[in-house]
Amino acid sequence: MVLTVKSKQKYAQKIKKLLISKDIFNQDYKIKREKGYVYLPVTKKISKPRLDFADKKLTKVEKKVSLQAVLKQKLTKNELEAVPSAFDIVGEIAILEIKDEIKKHEKFIARTLLKLHKNIKTVVKKASIHAGEFRLQKMKHLAGKRTKIAMHKESGVRIKLDVEKVYFSARLSNERLRIAKQIKKREDILVMFSGCAPFPLVIAKNSPAKRIVGIEKNPIGHKYALENLNLNKKVSGRVELYKGDVRKIIPKLKQKFDRILMPLPKSAEDFLPDALRAARKGTIIHLYDFLDEEDIPDVAIAKIKKHVKKFKILRVVKCGQFSPSVFRICVDFKLE
Ligand SMILES: C[S@@+](CC[C@H](N)C(=O)[O-])C[C@H]1O[C@@H](n2cnc3c(N)ncnc32)[C@H](O)[C@@H]1O
Repeated sequence: MVLTVKSKQKYAQKIKKLLISKDIFNQDYKIKREKGYVYLPVTKKISKPRLDFADKKLTKVEKKVSLQAVLKQKLTKNELEAVPSAFDIVGEIAILEIKDEIKKHEKFIARTLLKLHKNIKTVVKKASIHAGEFRLQKMKHLAGKRTKIAMHKESGVRIKLDVEKVYFSARLSNERLRIAKQIKKREDILVMFSGCAPFPLVIAKNSPAKRIVGIEKNPIGHKYALENLNLNKKVSGRVELYKGDVRKIIPKLKQKFDRILMPLPKSAEDFLPDALRAARKGTIIHLYDFLDEEDIPDVAIAKIKKHVKKFKILRVVKCGQFSPSVFRICVDFKLE
């Protein structure tokens, strides 16, 4: 039982202010609302005639301890500065970037993260950069459950993947939603380089698109994409996935699309002729690129000009940061 002040709902804010000003409001417990009354936790009784004190069962507030605060016990000031202030979470897996100067503390950092975040069950670190045609990145296990398979939730869909064998970036969730929100009723969408199908599924869930076609060359990515269709049966009926090279699959589709996504920033330009085979006047193309701040948007527009005669730029957005001066951008343009 916790000592509280019982107040009618309409006076609760005023009384809370009074308790704070008298320095007796107890921050360790949650306020409880019950049958028109509010129970405000206090540390002790004071003599104020209109305060109605009562004992009540309250829930303890879970105190958020910062990673830095715990690490302070073991790391020097310089080492602390090298600890990443943010990290990726894919499902229940946290993915860290560990700089060399704090490598000797990596397991301690990982174990601390596990203790502080109940939603994290596994901590891994990036052990290489994204490489190869499939854009894969090696991951090293640091703490918690030994798995690289994550079940991620994003914008109302569930996405299962192996974080080492399939490219996936949780940081692109806003970008996926940005595209989905532009889609109008009955649009046919082509997602080139669809990976484990985050774009197709987020679009299926959050837009009125008629049909969404995804193409992915990495067989493991495609395997997870098919599994993800099953995991999202309510929305995946409009999604069709193909395993293989976009260059071989697109001609076989024999279809023109209203909108084409090209989420392969390093080399999307090389595939523009293939995208154009599936496009017609009025098709909107979303072309991704990595560009230096000073080259945005001119360099991307020049790349489009090499392949497309008449087009209109709708917008150019920054949708991620690759390094301090290099951004992931998306050019939305319409064929004229
Ligand atoms: C940057 S990832 C994007 C994956 C996914 N769209 C996402 O947002 O998570 C690019 C993907 O393109 C695939 N890929 C690369 N070249 C390809 C090609 N020629 N045809 C089909 N897929 C390809 C890679 O395997 C990788 O999964």
